[in-house]
Amino acid sequence: MAPNHRLRLAAGLLLLPLILPAASLARDTIAPGQPLRGNDTLVSSGTGSFALGFFSPPGSNNTYVGVWYARLPVRTVVWVANRADPVHGANAAATLSVSSACELAVAAANGTVVWSASPPPGAAEGPCAARIHDDGNLVVMDQLGRVAWQGFDHPTDTLLPGMRLGVDFAAGKNMTLTAWVSPSDPSPSAVVAAMDTSGDPEVFVWNGATKVWRSGPWDGVQFTGVPDTVTYKALGFSFRFVNNAQEATYSFHVRDASIVSRLALNSTGAGGGLLQRWTWLEAARAWYLYWYAPKDQCDAVSPCGPNGVCDASTVPACACLRGFTPLSPATWALRDGRDGCVRATPLDCANRTDGFAVLPHAKVPDTTQAVVDFGSSLEQCRQRCLRNCSCTAYASANLTGEPGHRGCVMWTGGLDDLRVYPGYGQDLYFRLAAADLASVSKSKKKVNTVVAIVVSITALMAILLAVAGFFIWRAKKTKARKPASGTWRAGPRSKEGSEGKGHGDDLELPVYDYETIAKATEGFSTENKLGEGGFGPVYKGKLEDGQEIAVKTLSRTSTQGFEEFKNEDSRYRIIHRDLKTSNILLDEEMTPKISDFGMARMFGNDDAEINTLRVVGTYGYMAPEYAMDGVFSVKSDVFSFGVIVLEIIAGKRNRGVYSYSGHLNILAHAWSLLNEGKGIDLVDENLNGSFESDEVLKCLKVGLLCVQENPDDRPLMSQVLMMLASTDAASLPTPKQPGFAARRAAAEDTLWSKPDCSVVDSMTITMVEGR
Ligand SMILES: *[C@@H]1O[C@H](CO)[C@@H](O)[C@H](O)[C@H]1NC(C)=O
Ligand SMILES: *[C@@H]1O[C@H](CO)[C@@H](O)[C@H](O)[C@H]1NC(C)=O
Ligand SMILES: *[C@@H]1O[C@H](CO)[C@@H](O)[C@H](O)[C@H]1NC(C)=O
Ligand SMILES: *[C@@H]1O[C@H](CO)[C@@H](O)[C@H](O)[C@H]1NC(C)=O
Ligand SMILES: *[C@@H]1O[C@H](CO)[C@@H](O)[C@H](O)[C@H]1NC(C)=O
Ligand SMILES: *[C@@H]1O[C@H](CO)[C@@H](O)[C@H](O)[C@H]1NC(C)=O
Ligand SMILES: *[C@@H]1O[C@H](CO)[C@@H](O)[C@H](O)[C@H]1NC(C)=O
Ligand SMILES: *[C@@H]1O[C@H](CO)[C@@H](O)[C@H](O)[C@H]1NC(C)=O
Repeated sequence: MAPNHRLRLAAGLLLLPLILPAASLARDTIAPGQPLRGNDTLVSSGTGSFALGFFSPPGSNNTYVGVWYARLPVRTVVWVANRADPVHGANAAATLSVSSACELAVAAANGTVVWSASPPPGAAEGPCAARIHDDGNLVVMDQLGRVAWQGFDHPTDTLLPGMRLGVDFAAGKNMTLTAWVSPSDPSPSAVVAAMDTSGDPEVFVWNGATKVWRSGPWDGVQFTGVPDTVTYKALGFSFRFVNNAQEATYSFHVRDASIVSRLALNSTGAGGGLLQRWTWLEAARAWYLYWYAPKDQCDAVSPCGPNGVCDASTVPACACLRGFTPLSPATWALRDGRDGCVRATPLDCANRTDGFAVLPHAKVPDTTQAVVDFGSSLEQCRQRCLRNCSCTAYASANLTGEPGHRGCVMWTGGLDDLRVYPGYGQDLYFRLAAADLASVSKSKKKVNTVVAIVVSITALMAILLAVAGFFIWRAKKTKARKPASGTWRAGPRSKEGSEGKGHGDDLELPVYDYETIAKATEGFSTENKLGEGGFGPVYKGKLEDGQEIAVKTLSRTSTQGFEEFKNEDSRYRIIHRDLKTSNILLDEEMTPKISDFGMARMFGNDDAEINTLRVVGTYGYMAPEYAMDGVFSVKSDVFSFGVIVLEIIAGKRNRGVYSYSGHLNILAHAWSLLNEGKGIDLVDENLNGSFESDEVLKCLKVGLLCVQENPDDRPLMSQVLMMLASTDAASLPTPKQPGFAARRAAAEDTLWSKPDCSVVDSMTITMVEGR
């Protein structure tokens, strides 16, 4: 190389972020003249999370260039450059190079280029360099520091955090996922996930020309067909949906660096849908199937046809919208609903007698033919739909918008691919003739009995929400500082906002100022005193709106400064220390709230655990290391949570119930049942067998994982949420022996205890050592 040429190149490269850390062994960049070959890999230089190199899938005779997780023990390829153009021969000597004209190329040993990618003409000024980033993106950057080409614009089968799925109109890019043909063949199969932008944008999964799954439109918070997204938010996931003139794209992000998550499209879907969200579970050192779609018969595209409603929790699953009857009664009776339903009474638009009925908890119909208006209020949409005789239904378009500007989606013709979820989904307003409207208002729902039966199991989900709520509350609290005067701060409780039900905002805790509380308790009058808790008196009170409340006060002897508690901006974690069923309150809508933070301790981020001389808590819920040695950490709350889970399953208190079976407590009892393959025997017999065994076993396993003797073995709450929300229980790790199973009742014999006479019905104890 001529010296002046080398100089020019060096000058060009100086502008690139090319300088490798001296200590790092693996490089993260290739430049012109420095191709990657053989078994070399590039490793991202910041966190070292991703590697780029050559690989041959197991069972394949081809070599590919791919990106995989560098730090996971299981090689998981998330991106492939030459998926359709392999270098023949397993472990063949191949090269990946970047030319000075910014072309990225994969070549076989004999020099034949099998795959190449280059920026549009004029878009880049060479020389370029290609670098693997910490997010898994392979980026070709030109000498002006502009992105000439990047792997994230060309997804293969996997969406990583920050990667977009959808259409970038401005750049003319259509980012889709295409499943591998098989685990040994990364070439594109017929299974494709792509954003359809013709109506209100929705993601469809296609198998060839057949639609196999529809996400539903983005409602401002989530896709209406993925209503459990709210549970991810508590884990630190966030979602970004952009819908404007430049792009219509979806992407997800994870705040917590310890969570490794990917969305992948799979062509077989054996045992878990086609679109799958996998999350790395460090405890099991394996990938964990966290979510998948299609999931049930209602997730197929339009199983109940136009104007039919699919409900997976009923048999048969298909029903007609009110005011409609099956188009083909014979096939409908044979449970083939695909022909759908037709109107019983013709509309009378010209005479303006039509109206709208509401279908709650809906995944709204296919929007590819729908019209979207983001600027109107729901009432304006109603008027507009009523006036337009071809409009058959409308729904809110953006639940996060200002109440007057949530806009709407409006449908014409048949309402296709409609389903409902228990407790999730949004309201759909559909047009009916006056005669049918009258009958709708008469028929009322009959869900109450069902609720009573399943309440034990759903209570578990409730706790999950409570925990989620706690995290959200912590996060929100840092933002919203101004105390509201005795009002629920949660915005979505406004009238129109009831559509927002089931979304995270509903979980926000109210903040009351002192005056409101003082007024409600009539100045903390002794007449209103209910009892004395371990940390101070408890008063009953009544808010101005008639709501009855209990107020627990912190006494001055508390070592925990209340100011400190109030002034927490998120560096701290809170350890509750007294989680138990009686500290979980349910409102009339069965929304759980964790109460009694009187014993909660703040935790700096650097503290792993705290030693205390004062052990406070409740027998039966305290972790062994805390009860015995006074050591507590986030894992002691996890232990208490596990006890609660087991109690809910059994419908019994932890202690004193199982001595007849030779076990001291529910933990040992549950553990031995699980090991004997009789886990189901633990379930509360009052349920009379009306539960899903798989769900129960999952909860049982999770509960037992939480109460393991060694705190390090117990999962973090984020992992607990992940495990509870996921669909695959089989891959959960096997719980080790629970705490207290071996130690027997040592705690009981040696500790001095003082019963608490607060309003709660279980015993709270305060133990003081060395006094
Ligand atoms: C790979 O090559 C070996 C040896 O040539 C052959 O036996 C095997 O069938 C090939 N496998 C595939 C999947 O083509
Ligand atoms: C070079 O290798 C490629 C891929 O391995 C092969 O298809 C091609 O026939 C080879 N070309 C020559 C000239 O050997
Ligand atoms: C890569 O490593 C594998 C296993 O160590 C070896 O069999 C193969 O020949 C190597 N390939 C190249 C191109 O060096
Ligand atoms: C994007 O690709 C998908 C799948 O190939 C296709 O169905 C869709 O029409 C494309 N969208 C645009 C805007 O090109
Ligand atoms: C697709 O899913 C099946 C079953 O879950 C799994 O065995 C297979 O490895 C997956 N395919 C790919 C390419 O990951
Ligand atoms: C609508 O009004 C017209 C005139 O008042 C009447 O003849 C017609 O029967 C009405 N249509 C319906 C469906 O009631
Ligand atoms: C009625 O609505 C349809 C679809 O939303 C639209 O195409 C049509 O132009 C509207 N008609 C009138 C009169 O506004
Ligand atoms: C929905 O409303 C939010 C809040 O006003 C806004 O930021 C977002 O852009 C809206 N989405 C659409 C698609 O209009």
